[in-house]
Amino acid sequence: MKIIDTKKDLLRVRAQLKDMSIGIVPTMGNLHKGHLSLVQNSLQANNHTFVSIFVNPKQFGENEDLVNYPRTFQEDIQKLKQLDNEDGNENSIIVFAPKNEEEIFPISHQTSIEVNGMTDKLCGKSRPGHFRGVTTVVYQLFMLVKPTNAYFGKKDYQQYLVIKQMTEDLLMQINIHALPIIREESGLALSSRNQFLNSEQKKKSLTLFKTLSKLKRDFLQNKELPQIEISNIKKSSDWDYLEVLDANTLNEVDDKTNKYILAGAYKIGNTRLIDNIVFQANKNND
Ligand code: PAF
Repeated sequence: MKIIDTKKDLLRVRAQLKDMSIGIVPTMGNLHKGHLSLVQNSLQANNHTFVSIFVNPKQFGENEDLVNYPRTFQEDIQKLKQLDNEDGNENSIIVFAPKNEEEIFPISHQTSIEVNGMTDKLCGKSRPGHFRGVTTVVYQLFMLVKPTNAYFGKKDYQQYLVIKQMTEDLLMQINIHALPIIREESGLALSSRNQFLNSEQKKKSLTLFKTLSKLKRDFLQNKELPQIEISNIKKSSDWDYLEVLDANTLNEVDDKTNKYILAGAYKIGNTRLIDNIVFQANKNND
């Protein structure tokens, strides 16, 4: 496995990989089974997989905890090395971990990439500027790595849609893949933020997935949107949002909707967890 920490080395290594299928898994590190499943998928489908590890300051708001975001570089590298060995083609993984912020955003950097419309919904409402930060960094990574395929988790479903929109709008010709949410046995979606929860809070956190699952069941049974149930649940200040939307556009559900997303953001102490269920009305899952 190669580890690269400068743009210059990245471009040199990338230039040696002509005519190859290249995957990218952008991450902010603190890798868990969700990230590793993305890497495994990429390894299966591509000759080489770039895994970026960069805690992107541009996607954190002023009151958000950039400083305390978990940084576990050595553990991350061990986990990736293991996958690289299992792959049977050692050296399939190339880690890009910029040695400092300036490698990605030099002082002279002045350009942002912004997707309009769907970034005003869900997380975009409570985290203004967050998606601009995400698309700006992902654009940089895509331009450096020039991947064939890019892999994202469905837990951040809105992020996946926003990045897909960006690549389509900017004619980037990269296949964007969204892979299933990996959950603990309890149903809790894996997230780097789960480690901030104590055992009492962890129990409480199950409310998020349980609520989404119940709303989906009720919706499928009653064949109508669970709007009253949603507005009753939202009376609790624990919810940042809880919504059912069209999963292709994040617009309100209408006659054309064939895929739904039930999405929630739930606050426990200082931790905000997000989760979602995407499904078709006539099927159990998308
Ligand atoms: O999902 C994440 O970890 C980040 O938003 C991403 C895509 C790596 C961009 O910083």
